[in-house]
Amino acid sequence: MALQDTTPLSEDALNHAAQSIIAGNDRGGYTVPTASLYPYQWNWDSAIVAMGFAAFDLDRAWTEIETLMAHQWPDGMIPHIIFHQEVPSYFPGPSVWGTGRPVPTSGHSQPPVAAFCAEELLKRNHSPENLERASRVFDALMRWHRWWHDYRDPGGLGVVAITHPWESGRDNSSDWDDALEAVDGSNVEPYERRDLQHVDAAMRPTHEEYNRYIALVEFGRSLGWNARDIGTRNPFFVADPGCTFILLAADRALMRIAQTLKKIDDMPIIEEWIARAEAGCQRLWDKDQQTFTALDLRSSRHGQGVSNAALLCFFAETGTPAQKRAMLSHYDRIREKTGFGVPSHDPDSPVFDAKRYWRGPVWAFMNMMIGRGLLAHGHIREAMQVWDDTRTLIRDAGFAEYFDCNTGNPAGGVAFSWTAATWLQYGAVGAPWAPGAVPTSL
Ligand code: DGY
Repeated sequence: MALQDTTPLSEDALNHAAQSIIAGNDRGGYTVPTASLYPYQWNWDSAIVAMGFAAFDLDRAWTEIETLMAHQWPDGMIPHIIFHQEVPSYFPGPSVWGTGRPVPTSGHSQPPVAAFCAEELLKRNHSPENLERASRVFDALMRWHRWWHDYRDPGGLGVVAITHPWESGRDNSSDWDDALEAVDGSNVEPYERRDLQHVDAAMRPTHEEYNRYIALVEFGRSLGWNARDIGTRNPFFVADPGCTFILLAADRALMRIAQTLKKIDDMPIIEEWIARAEAGCQRLWDKDQQTFTALDLRSSRHGQGVSNAALLCFFAETGTPAQKRAMLSHYDRIREKTGFGVPSHDPDSPVFDAKRYWRGPVWAFMNMMIGRGLLAHGHIREAMQVWDDTRTLIRDAGFAEYFDCNTGNPAGGVAFSWTAATWLQYGAVGAPWAPGAVPTSL
């Protein structure tokens, strides 16, 4: 379906455009997601972008991840934003976070995608130099994953909780609606939103949500960003299917890297993390809705509806056969109802909104993870459909931050690094998802 009158770009032109976007967002050692809306280094954006760089500049790809790891906190956390220099077009900036780091950062983390991104880099080349770089990144990743397991799963439940909707990366997902009710946003210091100067308000979180986001930042700051205290006292502590599944997939990637690098001493630790998460993921299963969903660890209530994060169960290689069948039938039901898959929220939900950020739009890099998981489980029709949708959206609407799941129109920021990176890693190679990943029978 053509979304604009212009002739669709050829593959070569798309590859070229994707590289130019990443080069244009490169600030020297790190890449911004997009120029004005997100003018700093964001954690999961940056790791995904490294995979894009790997398609044309492996050295620069490693640098992207190394810069991210260089800002690791003493407790192991890798923060969600690194404020390399002050840029007035973004709020909340370094003074609002008040983390006191030598290079200012935000005070919480973001989904730990970096391990499987680093694995992609390592797979491309086993030269002594790359093995050495991979080894240093591996050590930092071990400390970061340990931080997730220790501080975001203090009860050893096998699921990791987020302390702020921004930590999930899925800011306004309805997964957080109930838990956010417990956060008082009525007394926050006066502030001015800058995101609405760059993007239509209909595509962004509401003011009420924003007040609560800022209240949580103020709360973290009042605790000196002490991860242990935040785990026990934060009013918002929600087990996230996105972070839990991504961490499990990332632990599996970490184990494969450990095998390649012969990091023998680390293997039993990773094995234990994986075993605990495999059991723990069952806590995210809501029998009534027959889906994986968020679990508010303060109220024990589940989130409502099926998110695209729930479909990451395939990527994490977890769930019983019956649960996987149920998730597959959710996938089919949902795909029938929208113009393009995979919407970030269930179109049958009353809070679904086709163009509002994480309440409906399609995100290319999420599709990449969902599609890889489906493919690995042999659900080839669905995996190909996810990839066809992703390609069509990018080809016809450009490298947008996300896409309206009904019309396919571009939404959010433009010239977006991780959409370009997703294209370069998986669109430009001429085969879906990953070189060699498609069974030869196809
Ligand atoms: C924002 O500012 O919208 C970001 O998503 C926070 O990470």
